[in-house]
Parts: sequence; structure tokens; C-alpha cells
Amino acid sequence: MVKNSSDDYPKPSALIQFLIRLRQVIFPGSQNYWQKRYLMGGNSGKGSYGESARFKSEVLNKFVRDNNIDSVTEYGCGDGNQLSYADYPQYIGLDISEQAIKRSSALFPEDSSKSFSLYDPNEFELNKQKFSADLVLSLDVIYHLVEDEVYRKYLENIFNSAKKYVAIYSSNEEVHGMLHSRHVRHRKVTSDIEKWFPSWELKETIKNVNAESESKGKEPSVDFYIFQSC
Ligand SMILES: C[S@@+](CC[C@H](N)C(=O)[O-])C[C@H]1O[C@@H](n2cnc3c(N)ncnc32)[C@H](O)[C@@H]1O
Repeated sequence: MVKNSSDDYPKPSALIQFLIRLRQVIFPGSQNYWQKRYLMGGNSGKGSYGESARFKSEVLNKFVRDNNIDSVTEYGCGDGNQLSYADYPQYIGLDISEQAIKRSSALFPEDSSKSFSLYDPNEFELNKQKFSADLVLSLDVIYHLVEDEVYRKYLENIFNSAKKYVAIYSSNEEVHGMLHSRHVRHRKVTSDIEKWFPSWELKETIKNVNAESESKGKEPSVDFYIFQSC
């Protein structure tokens, strides 16, 4: 289990803490946000389409080939669009939105190498048994996990399920305050992983080639962080 320490982050000022709490009261929660978004016809966001989706898949397809990866599980697969570019021997896509799982499954009806499932983030042992894979992916999900508990459970599930590698595509910078939208919370994820999962080491960082055009300098860049079991 991950340890629960109040010293994990530098403490923001009282005003910022108040604003964060206010935002949490107004915001329905990350899970609720995504479930509603898909039910209303929304998609996984711009990171799942076009140049961003192509870049993510180029990096991952090469990694899978170079490291003889047999099985891949993704926590937070979204609407499945970015998978159109993926070339994995066996793939399981998981999400907390039933609608996202329905849409992803509908995109690949004839492809027996891909399967999709709704998963329960509280079922750590069951998730480990059912969804273990050589490589576990987290792509454009972590900075959407605004609640600390949801974030910790998510990391615990991905590291529990990974046999060899975890590939995270995320921002990696603590940003306090209200500068970003309600469903975004940037964190120093590599530091948290170092503290909470000491049997994993950062093997490689791969910079996002589209970073400047995507963030326009306003948001932290989103890059690849690849961890290896040691
Ligand atoms: C921005 S989309 C990214 C989709 C896909 N990974 C991609 O790169 O195209 C974020 C996804 O994370 C999912 N998500 C949100 N909270 C989650 C959680 N606690 N566990 C797993 N997935 C979650 C959302 O439902 C959504 O499909």
C-alpha cells in the first residue's frame, strides 16, 4: 500500500487551500466528470487525436518492439481513438467510464488482440490478477486526477499490475492554484513514485516533440516517463 503522509507536498498558503477546497466542492469529481463527458457525446480530448496520438504511438510501438513486450494494459484508455495507431501483441484497455469502454470496443469489433473493460479502482488485488501485463500504460490521465486519494489509488493499480515496465505520459510539475481548468491538477509524479514505489526506477524520459505547439507555454509540458522494475 502507498503510505499516507501529510508531508508529501509543500503546503500551499491558506488562501490557495481555501480556493482548492472551494473548487473541489463545485467540481463533481474526476470520475463523474469523465463519465458525464462521454455520456454527453464528448471525446477523450485533443491528446487522443492527430499529431499527439501519433507521437504517443510511435514512442510506444518502438518500445514494445525493442523490449519484446508480449502484453500491454492501459489504465484510462478513453474513447480508443489513439489505439488506431497502436501495434501491440495483446492489449487490455481499462476505464472508469462505461461509455468510453463501449465506444472503444465498437472501434475494434474484429480485433481479437484487443479487449476493453470497466474497472473498479478499489479492487487492487482483483485488478492485479485480471489485468497484469509486461507493460502498463498511463497516457494523459494522471494530471486529470484532481483528488489525492484517486491519484494514489490509480498509481497503486498501475504499479501493482505491471510485470516489467510502466510508461507514463504526463506533466511532472507541482502547480498550485486556480490557473488551470477544474479537471486538471499537475503534480510532481516522478517524486511520488520514487517515494511510494521504491522497487521501481526511472529508466527513460522521452520529451514530447509537440510540447510547444500544445501548451503554448501556459501549461507544464507532458512527456514520457518510463519506469522499470528493479
Ligand atoms: C484525456 S483521456 C486519455 C485517454 C487515452 N489514454 C489517450 O491517451 O488517448 C483521460 C481518460 O482517463 C479516464 N480516467 C479518469 N479517471 C480515471 C481513473 N481513476 N482510472 C482510470 N481512468 C480514468 C477518463 O475516463 C478518460 O477516458
